[in-house]
Amino acid sequence: MTSPLPFTPDLSVKPEVAAFFDDATNTVSYVVKDPSSKACAVVDSVMDIDYAAGRITYDHADQIIDHIRKNGLAVEWIIETHVHADHLSAAPYIQEKLGGKLGIGDKITVVQDTFGKVFNEGTEFQRDGSQFDRLFRDGDSYTIGSMTAYAMHTPGHTPACMTHVIGDAAFVGDTLFMPDGGSARADFPGGDARELYRSIKRVLALPGETRLFICHDYGPNGRDIKWETTVAEERSHNIHVRDGVSEDEFVSMREARDATLDMPKLIIPSLQVNMRAGHLPPKEEDGKTYLKVPVNGL
Ligand SMILES: [Fe+2]
Repeated sequence: MTSPLPFTPDLSVKPEVAAFFDDATNTVSYVVKDPSSKACAVVDSVMDIDYAAGRITYDHADQIIDHIRKNGLAVEWIIETHVHADHLSAAPYIQEKLGGKLGIGDKITVVQDTFGKVFNEGTEFQRDGSQFDRLFRDGDSYTIGSMTAYAMHTPGHTPACMTHVIGDAAFVGDTLFMPDGGSARADFPGGDARELYRSIKRVLALPGETRLFICHDYGPNGRDIKWETTVAEERSHNIHVRDGVSEDEFVSMREARDATLDMPKLIIPSLQVNMRAGHLPPKEEDGKTYLKVPVNGL
Protein backbone atom coordinates (compact mmCIF):
# COMPACT_ATOMS: atom_id res chain seq x y z
CA MET A 1 0.00 0.00 0.00
CA THR A 2 1.34 3.45 -0.81
CA SER A 3 1.63 5.91 2.04
CA PRO A 4 -1.06 8.62 2.20
CA LEU A 5 1.74 10.99 3.23
CA PRO A 6 3.63 12.93 0.56
CA PHE A 7 6.90 12.70 2.57
CA THR A 8 8.60 10.52 5.18
CA PRO A 9 8.32 11.96 8.70
CA ASP A 10 11.57 12.16 10.69
CA LEU A 11 10.71 11.68 14.36
CA SER A 12 14.32 12.19 15.43
CA VAL A 13 13.85 15.93 14.80
CA LYS A 14 12.16 17.44 17.86
CA PRO A 15 11.42 21.15 17.48
CA GLU A 16 11.01 23.27 20.60
CA VAL A 17 7.49 24.67 20.60
CA ALA A 18 6.34 27.74 22.55
CA ALA A 19 2.58 28.38 22.58
CA PHE A 20 0.83 31.75 22.97
CA PHE A 21 -2.88 31.50 23.76
CA ASP A 22 -5.13 34.40 22.82
CA ASP A 23 -8.06 34.62 25.26
CA ALA A 24 -10.12 36.91 23.05
CA THR A 25 -10.33 34.45 20.13
CA ASN A 26 -9.28 31.12 21.73
CA THR A 27 -6.46 30.92 19.19
CA VAL A 28 -3.08 29.34 19.86
CA SER A 29 -0.08 30.85 18.07
CA TYR A 30 3.27 29.06 18.05
CA VAL A 31 6.96 29.79 17.84
CA VAL A 32 8.66 26.64 16.52
CA LYS A 33 12.42 26.58 17.15
CA ASP A 34 15.14 24.44 15.67
CA PRO A 35 16.89 22.81 18.69
CA SER A 36 20.28 23.03 16.99
CA SER A 37 20.21 26.70 15.94
CA LYS A 38 18.45 30.00 16.66
CA ALA A 39 16.13 29.59 13.66
CA CYS A 40 12.39 29.61 14.23
CA ALA A 41 9.03 29.91 12.54
CA VAL A 42 5.90 31.67 13.77
CA VAL A 43 2.63 29.83 13.15
CA ASP A 44 -0.81 31.49 13.12
CA SER A 45 -0.22 34.82 14.86
CA VAL A 46 -3.07 37.05 16.05
CA MET A 47 -3.69 40.79 15.64
CA ASP A 48 -6.04 42.17 18.31
CA ILE A 49 -9.25 43.87 17.25
CA ASP A 50 -11.99 45.55 19.23
CA TYR A 51 -14.51 45.24 16.42
CA ALA A 52 -17.20 47.29 18.13
CA ALA A 53 -14.75 50.18 18.40
CA GLY A 54 -12.97 49.54 15.08
CA ARG A 55 -9.69 49.48 17.00
CA ILE A 56 -6.65 47.39 16.16
CA THR A 57 -3.77 46.73 18.59
CA TYR A 58 -0.85 44.33 18.80
CA ASP A 59 -0.55 43.07 22.39
CA HIS A 60 -0.66 39.41 21.44
CA ALA A 61 1.83 39.77 18.58
CA ASP A 62 4.11 41.84 20.84
CA GLN A 63 4.28 38.94 23.31
CA ILE A 64 5.54 36.71 20.48
CA ILE A 65 8.00 39.37 19.32
CA ASP A 66 9.31 39.79 22.89
CA HIS A 67 9.79 36.05 23.23
CA ILE A 68 11.72 35.91 19.95
CA ARG A 69 13.92 38.88 20.83
CA LYS A 70 14.57 37.74 24.40
CA ASN A 71 15.78 34.38 23.12
CA GLY A 72 17.77 35.87 20.24
CA LEU A 73 15.84 33.85 17.64
CA ALA A 74 15.87 34.41 13.90
CA VAL A 75 12.48 34.21 12.20
CA GLU A 76 12.79 32.32 8.94
CA TRP A 77 9.10 31.69 8.28
CA ILE A 78 5.74 33.12 9.25
CA ILE A 79 3.18 30.45 8.47
CA GLU A 80 -0.58 30.71 8.16
CA THR A 81 -2.20 27.28 8.30
CA HIS A 82 -5.22 28.78 6.50
CA VAL A 83 -7.30 31.92 6.00
CA HIS A 84 -8.76 32.20 9.48
CA ALA A 85 -12.34 33.36 9.89
CA ASP A 86 -12.28 34.03 13.62
CA HIS A 87 -9.19 36.14 14.20
CA LEU A 88 -7.01 38.55 12.26
CA SER A 89 -3.44 37.59 11.40
CA ALA A 90 -0.53 39.70 12.64
CA ALA A 91 1.84 38.22 10.06
CA PRO A 92 2.79 41.51 8.32
CA TYR A 93 3.35 43.23 11.68
CA ILE A 94 5.70 40.46 12.83
CA GLN A 95 7.40 40.31 9.44
CA GLU A 96 8.06 44.04 9.48
CA LYS A 97 9.69 43.82 12.93
CA LEU A 98 11.54 40.53 12.61
CA GLY A 99 11.68 39.47 8.95
CA GLY A 100 10.93 35.97 7.71
CA LYS A 101 9.01 34.74 4.70
CA LEU A 102 5.24 34.54 4.80
CA GLY A 103 3.72 31.28 3.57
CA ILE A 104 0.25 29.78 3.06
CA GLY A 105 -1.33 27.02 0.95
CA ASP A 106 -1.56 27.69 -2.79
CA LYS A 107 -5.35 27.29 -2.73
CA ILE A 108 -5.41 30.76 -1.16
CA THR A 109 -6.27 31.84 -4.70
CA VAL A 110 -9.61 30.02 -4.42
CA VAL A 111 -10.31 31.77 -1.10
CA GLN A 112 -9.29 35.14 -2.56
CA ASP A 113 -11.56 34.62 -5.52
CA THR A 114 -14.56 33.69 -3.32
CA PHE A 115 -14.16 36.51 -0.82
CA GLY A 116 -12.97 39.03 -3.39
CA LYS A 117 -16.51 38.67 -4.77
CA VAL A 118 -18.20 38.69 -1.34
CA PHE A 119 -16.50 41.99 -0.48
CA ASN A 120 -16.83 43.39 -4.02
CA GLU A 121 -13.10 44.08 -4.19
CA GLY A 122 -11.78 46.00 -7.17
CA THR A 123 -9.03 44.94 -9.52
CA GLU A 124 -6.33 46.22 -7.15
CA PHE A 125 -7.09 43.21 -4.94
CA GLN A 126 -4.90 40.52 -6.49
CA ARG A 127 -6.37 37.03 -6.40
CA ASP A 128 -3.09 35.28 -7.24
CA GLY A 129 -1.65 34.87 -3.74
CA SER A 130 1.03 37.47 -4.51
CA GLN A 131 0.57 39.05 -1.05
CA PHE A 132 2.50 36.02 0.31
CA ASP A 133 6.17 35.11 -0.22
CA ARG A 134 5.50 31.42 -0.74
CA LEU A 135 2.47 29.37 -1.75
CA PHE A 136 2.82 25.76 -0.61
CA ARG A 137 1.59 22.79 -2.56
CA ASP A 138 0.96 19.36 -1.12
CA GLY A 139 4.26 17.74 -0.18
CA ASP A 140 6.38 20.89 -0.52
CA SER A 141 9.26 21.22 1.89
CA TYR A 142 11.13 24.17 3.34
CA THR A 143 13.76 24.55 6.04
CA ILE A 144 13.83 26.17 9.48
CA GLY A 145 17.52 26.16 10.43
CA SER A 146 18.58 22.52 10.16
CA MET A 147 15.01 21.19 10.23
CA THR A 148 13.01 20.21 7.16
CA ALA A 149 9.34 21.16 7.31
CA TYR A 150 6.67 19.66 5.07
CA ALA A 151 3.39 21.19 4.00
CA MET A 152 0.49 18.80 3.59
CA HIS A 153 -2.73 19.96 1.92
CA THR A 154 -5.59 19.21 4.34
CA PRO A 155 -8.69 20.95 2.93
CA GLY A 156 -12.23 20.63 4.25
CA HIS A 157 -12.45 23.36 6.88
CA THR A 158 -11.33 25.72 4.09
CA PRO A 159 -9.89 25.01 0.62
CA ALA A 160 -6.42 26.34 1.48
CA CYS A 161 -5.82 24.53 4.79
CA MET A 162 -2.36 23.03 5.19
CA THR A 163 -0.90 20.94 7.99
CA HIS A 164 2.78 21.68 8.57
CA VAL A 165 4.85 18.71 9.73
CA ILE A 166 8.21 19.54 11.30
CA GLY A 167 10.03 16.50 12.71
CA ASP A 168 7.82 14.90 15.35
CA ALA A 169 5.47 17.91 15.49
CA ALA A 170 2.51 18.74 13.26
CA PHE A 171 0.65 22.05 13.19
CA VAL A 172 -2.81 21.10 12.09
CA GLY A 173 -4.56 24.47 12.05
CA ASP A 174 -8.30 23.81 12.33
CA THR A 175 -8.21 20.37 10.75
CA LEU A 176 -8.50 18.78 14.18
CA PHE A 177 -9.24 20.02 17.70
CA MET A 178 -8.24 18.33 20.96
CA PRO A 179 -9.77 14.83 21.30
CA ASP A 180 -12.67 16.15 23.43
CA GLY A 181 -13.16 19.11 21.03
CA GLY A 182 -13.46 16.97 17.88
CA SER A 183 -13.10 18.82 14.61
CA ALA A 184 -13.65 22.27 13.12
CA ARG A 185 -16.69 23.29 11.11
CA ALA A 186 -16.76 22.64 7.38
CA ASP A 187 -19.57 24.96 6.32
CA PHE A 188 -17.69 28.11 5.29
CA PRO A 189 -17.67 28.83 1.53
CA GLY A 190 -15.38 26.20 -0.01
CA GLY A 191 -15.59 23.97 3.09
CA ASP A 192 -16.55 20.31 2.75
CA ALA A 193 -17.13 17.75 5.52
CA ARG A 194 -16.19 14.78 3.33
CA GLU A 195 -12.96 16.43 2.30
CA LEU A 196 -12.28 17.28 5.95
CA TYR A 197 -12.67 13.62 6.96
CA ARG A 198 -10.17 12.55 4.30
CA SER A 199 -7.72 15.27 5.33
CA ILE A 200 -8.00 14.23 8.98
CA LYS A 201 -7.27 10.64 8.01
CA ARG A 202 -4.08 11.81 6.31
CA VAL A 203 -3.00 13.64 9.46
CA LEU A 204 -3.83 10.57 11.53
CA ALA A 205 -1.63 8.49 9.20
CA LEU A 206 1.38 10.21 10.79
CA PRO A 207 3.20 8.05 13.37
CA GLY A 208 1.22 7.66 16.63
CA GLU A 209 3.74 9.56 18.74
CA THR A 210 3.61 12.65 16.48
CA ARG A 211 2.82 15.71 18.60
CA LEU A 212 -0.19 17.59 17.23
CA PHE A 213 -0.52 21.31 17.90
CA ILE A 214 -3.96 22.71 17.33
CA CYS A 215 -5.01 26.26 16.51
CA HIS A 216 -8.08 26.63 18.74
CA ASP A 217 -9.35 25.30 22.03
CA TYR A 218 -12.52 26.26 23.86
CA GLY A 219 -12.02 24.15 27.02
CA PRO A 220 -15.05 21.89 26.51
CA ASN A 221 -16.96 20.84 29.65
CA GLY A 222 -15.11 23.39 31.76
CA ARG A 223 -11.63 21.84 31.46
CA ASP A 224 -8.49 24.03 31.26
CA ILE A 225 -7.35 25.19 27.82
CA LYS A 226 -5.04 22.70 26.05
CA TRP A 227 -3.40 22.69 22.63
CA GLU A 228 -1.13 19.69 22.41
CA THR A 229 -2.09 16.08 21.79
CA THR A 230 -0.77 13.15 19.74
CA VAL A 231 -1.91 11.20 16.73
CA ALA A 232 -2.40 8.12 18.98
CA GLU A 233 -4.62 10.06 21.41
CA GLU A 234 -6.74 11.46 18.58
CA ARG A 235 -7.10 8.01 17.01
CA SER A 236 -8.36 6.49 20.25
CA HIS A 237 -10.37 9.34 21.76
CA ASN A 238 -11.41 12.04 19.27
CA ILE A 239 -15.14 12.49 19.81
CA HIS A 240 -15.80 13.09 16.09
CA VAL A 241 -13.24 11.09 14.20
CA ARG A 242 -11.53 8.40 16.33
CA ASP A 243 -10.71 5.10 14.63
CA GLY A 244 -13.88 3.27 13.68
CA VAL A 245 -15.96 6.36 12.78
CA SER A 246 -16.85 6.03 9.10
CA GLU A 247 -16.74 8.83 6.56
CA ASP A 248 -20.54 8.84 6.25
CA GLU A 249 -21.02 8.95 10.02
CA PHE A 250 -18.59 11.84 10.28
CA VAL A 251 -20.20 13.76 7.42
CA SER A 252 -23.73 13.47 8.86
CA MET A 253 -22.53 14.49 12.33
CA ARG A 254 -20.50 17.42 10.96
CA GLU A 255 -23.23 18.75 8.69
CA ALA A 256 -25.94 18.47 11.37
CA ARG A 257 -23.72 20.26 13.86
CA ASP A 258 -22.62 22.99 11.42
CA ALA A 259 -26.26 23.81 10.72
CA THR A 260 -26.60 24.88 14.37
CA LEU A 261 -23.52 27.14 14.55
CA ASP A 262 -23.58 30.93 14.42
CA MET A 263 -21.06 32.77 12.25
CA PRO A 264 -17.83 33.54 14.15
CA LYS A 265 -18.01 37.04 15.67
CA LEU A 266 -14.97 38.25 13.73
CA ILE A 267 -15.59 36.56 10.38
CA ILE A 268 -16.18 39.80 8.45
CA PRO A 269 -13.04 41.68 9.50
CA SER A 270 -10.99 38.46 9.60
CA LEU A 271 -11.64 37.46 6.01
CA GLN A 272 -11.06 40.94 4.63
CA VAL A 273 -7.70 41.17 6.35
CA ASN A 274 -6.53 37.55 6.14
CA MET A 275 -7.22 37.18 2.41
CA ARG A 276 -4.70 40.05 2.09
CA ALA A 277 -2.12 38.12 4.13
CA GLY A 278 -2.99 40.13 7.26
CA HIS A 279 -2.85 43.56 5.61
CA LEU A 280 -5.68 46.01 6.16
CA PRO A 281 -7.55 47.16 3.05
CA PRO A 282 -5.85 50.09 1.25
CA LYS A 283 -6.44 53.57 2.65
CA GLU A 284 -9.30 55.57 1.15
CA GLU A 285 -9.04 59.16 -0.23
CA ASP A 286 -9.21 60.59 3.29
CA GLY A 287 -6.11 58.59 4.27
CA LYS A 288 -8.10 56.31 6.59
CA THR A 289 -8.70 52.58 6.53
CA TYR A 290 -12.17 51.05 6.49
CA LEU A 291 -13.56 47.54 6.80
CA LYS A 292 -16.75 46.68 4.94
CA VAL A 293 -19.81 44.76 6.10
CA PRO A 294 -21.53 43.05 3.15
CA VAL A 295 -25.24 43.10 3.95
CA ASN A 296 -26.71 39.60 3.53
CA GLY A 297 -23.54 38.77 1.61
CA LEU A 298 -22.18 35.87 3.63
FE1 LIG B 1 -10.16 28.39 10.94
